[in-house]
Order: sequence, then structure tokens, then C-alpha cells
Amino acid sequence: MTTDTTGTVARDGDSRPGGPADSPFIRACRRRPVPHTPVWFMRQAGRSLPEYREIRASVPMLESCRRPELVTEITLQPVRRHGVDAAILFSDIVVPVAAAGIDLDIVPGTGPVVAEPIRTAADVERIRRITRDDVSYVDEAVRQLVVELGDTPLIGFAGAPFTLASYLVEGGPSRTHAKTKALMYGDPELWHALCARLAEVTLAFLRVQIEAGVSAVQLFDSWAGALSEADYRRFVLPHSTTVLSGLVNSGVPRIHFGVGTGELLGAMGEAGADVVGVDWRTPLDVATGRIGADKAVQGNLDPCVLLAPWPVVEAEVRRILEQGRAAPGHVFNLGHGVLPETDPEVLTRVVALVHELSSRRADQG
Ligand code: CP3
Repeated sequence: MTTDTTGTVARDGDSRPGGPADSPFIRACRRRPVPHTPVWFMRQAGRSLPEYREIRASVPMLESCRRPELVTEITLQPVRRHGVDAAILFSDIVVPVAAAGIDLDIVPGTGPVVAEPIRTAADVERIRRITRDDVSYVDEAVRQLVVELGDTPLIGFAGAPFTLASYLVEGGPSRTHAKTKALMYGDPELWHALCARLAEVTLAFLRVQIEAGVSAVQLFDSWAGALSEADYRRFVLPHSTTVLSGLVNSGVPRIHFGVGTGELLGAMGEAGADVVGVDWRTPLDVATGRIGADKAVQGNLDPCVLLAPWPVVEAEVRRILEQGRAAPGHVFNLGHGVLPETDPEVLTRVVALVHELSSRRADQG
């Protein structure tokens, strides 16, 4: 193991020149100079790709996450097609929760639906701690992918305690998170017990992915923007910190992302992130002011912009590259996931444009 200038412990072996740890994506996460701004898209695997829809036509979502050969194929599809700088593991945030013993399904057109929502201390105990054996299909898929991807880094991920708690308490997707907040305000002790257990499951799940070889991890707290900063700090930050600080010596950069989190960006960085994800509401230069100069940023392109004519897309890509220069490291991405109706050709063009506009000749330093 070696320690670089950012104090990060690099993994032996894969930090060789040209390997995944030396890729533009990982270099940007670590705030090192890059040959071009790296780009990938949240929810790039699946969604808009016809080759993905063909596979999924006969396989339910959760089953597809548990078949390593399908996970590998779906994860590779956007890398082959778009030439993105990183792959993201094909899975879902509820996969570890199902592995922990919670009866749930992913219902087409709806999302995760939990058979018996979590409402009591006894319910919290139903969420078992997990080991590698509970998610051996993820371990196997990551190992296959690392071989297939070669020098392209693989991003592992998990849902953060608040976002997972929302699905578990509501029983499914919710616009207001009313039941979740009622529990949080009404029974803080139970709330903290639930989030502490979810943090344990999430941390174990991310450690399995890191041991199997992912080059970075992203913690999705998609719905954290539903909270004020004060409530975020009191009810959520300690648990997300358990997860992210638990990986501080893992040797891989940690990305922390949520939607509608303009007011929370500083706190989300404090939770222990190397990179903070930014939605489309906060420009990257403003975000950097809130996060501080010791972290990289990722995101900001409104996924809906990709549905507009190309000159609009191009202008937005240029704006984001320009504003991203304020940050000590910039990973180009959307402000949230790719919409299913996106034309995949537009994604390919965005990748090429980001690379072209941001290419730095070696003699420019
Ligand atoms: O989008 C986010 O905010 C990221 C975090 C998140 C994921 N799943 C990660 C993910 C969230 C909040 C979910 C919950 C979920 N799972 C929903 C949203 C429901 C709601 O509350 O609005 C849905 C529809 C699912 C089911 C699901 N997950 C499907 C059908 C698929 C495959 C194709 C698709 O639609 O993207 C997934 C894959 C998935 N979920 C990935 C990730 C990171 C892997 C694909 C990728 O990132 O490229």
C-alpha cells in the first residue's frame, strides 16, 4: 500500500500507470491532474438502451440483479456504446435490504414495494446483518466485471440510510416522505436504531464490493433533500458518516449524492466524501463554495436537457465544464439519473463533446 498526496491509501497493483486507479475518473475524484474531464451518467446501465430492454423483457428486476452474467452484460453495455470513463454496477439500492431478509419486490412502473413496512423496534430487528455470502452474486459479478473492464474503473454503490429508511417505512416510493418523517420526529430513538442498522448493512454491502475490486463507491441519498439542514444534521448525518468514514481506509474514493440538496452540500461533504454529487439546481462553482476546496464535485446537467435539441445540450455541457473549473476535481455527470426516454445517441455525443472540449495536451501540463 502507498499513500498519495491527498492522504489516500492506494491499492497495491492497480495504481500502475494506465490501470483503473490511474484513470481520469479516479484521478479527478482524488483532485489530481487529468488528461480530460471524465464523464459517466447516473443510471447509465439500463433505462434508455434497447439492448438492455431486450435482456430485461423476460427477467424481473431483482432476479436480473442476482444473476452475475446478466449484471456483467448490462453493466458493460453503456461502456461499449458511449465510451464513458467509468462503469456503474447494475444493481439497485434495495438489493442488500432484500438480502438482509426484508420481503420486497421491484414493481415495474412503481419501484421498490415492501410487503410489511418497518414501523416498530421488532421490525428493525427483522433487518438482519449481512455477510458476503448473503450477496455472493454481487461479489461474483464485480470480480467478472473487473476482468472484463480492464483499465476502465467500476463504481460500486449503495443507498444511504435515509433513502433506504424512506422505502422501508413508507412501504414504497413517496413524494412527501410523510410516514418516514412522522417516525423520525415522533420516535427519534426508533429512528436512530433503524438508521444505525441500515448503516451496518450498507457498510457491509460496500465492503463486499470493494473487496471484490470496485475502484470507487457512490452512496446515493437520493431523497435527503426532503430535509432541512438542521434535521439532516440531527437525524441523518451521523448514520451516513458511519458508512463513509467506515471506508476511509478502503483505498477507494467515496462519492456522496442526493437530489434537492443545495442546502445540504456542505454537510454531505462533512459526512466523509471525496466527491460530492450536485443536482441541476446548484451550479458547480456555487456548489464548490459550499463544499470547500478539499473535495471534488460531480453532476449538474439536468437530465431533461438531453431531451432538447442538440445546440441546447451543447451550451449546457459548455457551461458545466466552465463552472466545474472552480472545483479542485470535476467528474461530468447528470444532476440525477438518465430518463428512460433519452435518445442513447445523445449520451454518446455528450461523452465525445466533454472529452473534446476538456482535452489537455501533455505539454500544457
Ligand atoms: O435514481 C436514484 O436516485 C439513484 C438511487 C436509487 C436507485 N434505485 C439506484 C439504482 C433509487 C432511489 C432507487 C430506487 C428505485 N429502484 C426506483 C425509484 C423509485 C422511486 O422512488 O421513484 C426504481 C424505479 C427502482 C427499480 C430499478 N432500479 C430499475 C427498474 C432499474 C433498472 C433500470 C433503470 O430504470 O434504471 C434500477 C437500476 C438502478 N437503480 C441502478 C442504480 C444505481 C443501476 C443502473 C445505473 O445506475 O446505471
